[in-house]
Formats: sequence, structure tokens, C-alpha cells
Amino acid sequence: MKPLSVLSQTTAVASLILAVVTVASCATPPQEGKQTAPTFAQPFAPVDAFAQVADLGRGVNVLGYDPVWKDPTKGRFQPRHFKIIRDAGFKTVRVVLQSFSHMDSANRLDPEWLKTLDTMVTTAVGDGLNVILDEHDFETCGKDAVICRTKVNAFWSQIAPRYKDAPHQVMFEILNEPNQAMTPELWNAEFHEALAIIRTSNPTRNVIIGPSIWNSLEHLPDLDLPADDQHIIVTFHYYNPVTFTHQGAYWVGPEIQKLSGITWGSEADYALLNKNFDQVKAWSDAHHRPVFLGEFGAYDKAAMEYRVKWDFAVARAAEAHGFPWAYWQFDPDFTVYDFSKDGWVEPILHAIIPPDGNAQNPGQ
Ligand code: BGC
Repeated sequence: MKPLSVLSQTTAVASLILAVVTVASCATPPQEGKQTAPTFAQPFAPVDAFAQVADLGRGVNVLGYDPVWKDPTKGRFQPRHFKIIRDAGFKTVRVVLQSFSHMDSANRLDPEWLKTLDTMVTTAVGDGLNVILDEHDFETCGKDAVICRTKVNAFWSQIAPRYKDAPHQVMFEILNEPNQAMTPELWNAEFHEALAIIRTSNPTRNVIIGPSIWNSLEHLPDLDLPADDQHIIVTFHYYNPVTFTHQGAYWVGPEIQKLSGITWGSEADYALLNKNFDQVKAWSDAHHRPVFLGEFGAYDKAAMEYRVKWDFAVARAAEAHGFPWAYWQFDPDFTVYDFSKDGWVEPILHAIIPPDGNAQNPGQ
């Protein structure tokens, strides 16, 4: 665990006590209602976490910012896109779920939202894809660890039993990019709690957990994983260097927002990428945990030539290190699929899934 200053330790302990008191004083987390759970052609059968990681292959993040969640008739993403994704060579979708805004005052998930989710999950599985259910309310979680804890636990109290009979291809990711208020210490406490909730209905399904501080690789050593639970896949996100991948992005602060024309692909750039991934591999080997790269991508404001170079290099480096990956994202930014044409952004698609199967890094 990372050393903390006395002040941070006091704050962390106080927040934890507050969180425990608050959770204890809340009504019992909502349980699955009377609605029918989705049905699947295949039953669940446990799979070793390393075997599952070996099967995830190439993936893409989907649905995070789609209007379909508010109004199923207004979806940009349609269930038919799963087949398009599979046919392009992807094996996995990470379904990005911002569920908090679809909960009522007792943190019960909206039945219509659940119905949309069921349709998406059953279609994706039917089309031969692995499906990661990723709770993605990292912004709320970064602001308020108490609310985060209550809602994340409520989410898994409902989603885990609902999908308990789904085949092993469906995996749960407890929370995307814990950050700021959700300190490494609070995150360790919280994911243990959410995992215990999941384990009451899904004792052997593989669950994905990443480190705090934005799922950054530097914080893998902070993770306090339960030694007696080997059905865990560890995730990290890769956007190095952010000056390149997030140039011009409005949500990352003025210094990076004002950048433009940043290129990528020097010898030093490749060396940093390989050093970073070696570090993750060393952690994975030392801790005997399989690793999944859950997000990587370069924002649309970088020049296409360099986005392609970076995307290709990161995807190949991940594969060389044995990490399956999921590109960020299908749509609406870092875009690999253009809904206005209902077609792929081919330079990006071909960078991450080379049409000729070429696995060499350009520039190396
Ligand atoms: C967030 C996106 C963001 C991306 C890259 C994701 O986890 O959900 O809003 O664009 O990271 O910064």
C-alpha cells in the first residue's frame, strides 16, 4: 500500500468511518425485483481467469454516451452493431454503463433501462462476443466516495443476481477509473464490499478490478486483492503520453486543452510504451493475476497519421505482452465507428485490427 501523510491517513480513516456509518444507516441495498432475468442459450460454467483473458482478444468500448439509455427509440447504437463489431474481428465489447442517473431515490435501477441492457447483452452474447459490464460513474465517484459506495453496491446488488445465469462470457467490472475522492485506500475497501455482494450470487464468475487513480499502471501495487479469490482479472488504462492522446480535450484541464499538433512515434516514445507495458507484465507475473487493457485511444483532435501510429503501436505492444485490449471507443469521440456513414473509420479500425494480420510496429 502507498505511504500516506498523517493528514491523508486521518482523512482516509474519517471518510471510511463516515462511509460505513452512512451505508449502515441506509435502507438495505435494493435487491433484484420481480422482473424476469434475461435468458441465454448457454448456461454458466466457471472458467479460469487466465483462460478467459486468453480468449478476450481484441475489443471495443461501446454504448457509454448513447441516447439509447434514455430513450430506446433514439439509439445511435443498435443491437445489429454487435454483429458488425464481431465481423470486423473484435471478440469483446466493454459495455460502458452510467447507471447512477437511472436509479430512483432508493437506488433501484429503472426497469426500462434494465430491459435495454438485457437486449444489448443477450444480442452481443448471441453474436459470439464476450461482454464486460462496466459500471462507469467515475465522475460521481471521484467527487463523493460515500455516494459512490452506496450506489456501486446498489448497482451490483441488482445486476449480479440478474445476470447470475449468464454464460461465463459475461464479466463484471466493478467500477471504471476510481479517482480523487475514491482514494486507493477507500477503493480497496469498496471493491472488497462490492465483490462480496457479487460473490453471493456469482461465486466463480470472473470479475474485473483496476487500480485507483484512473486505473493507471503506476497504481497497480496499491491494489489489495483477496488472495483466496482467483476469479479476478486486473485492468489498467493507457493514454500515455496524455499530451499526445488528449491534446485539445476539454475535460483534462487548460494545459492539455490548449495543445495541438503534438506528434508521436520517436524512438523514445516507443521505448516508453514498452517500458510501461513491461512494468505491467512484471506486476502481473509477480502477483499471478491476468491483465486486460480496458481502454486506450487518442482523441480525434490529434492528426490521423499519428493516431494510427499510436493506436497500432499500443495494440501490438499489448498483444506482445499478453494483454487483451478494448479500444476507447466505438463512438462518439476517439471514434472508430462513424454513425453518420454507418461505417468504420477505416484508418483507426485497420490500425487496431490490421487487415493483413501484420503485427509489426511501424517505425520500429
Ligand atoms: C471516460 C471518457 C473519456 C476517456 C478518455 C473514459 O473512461 O469515460 O469520458 O473520454 O476515458 O479520457
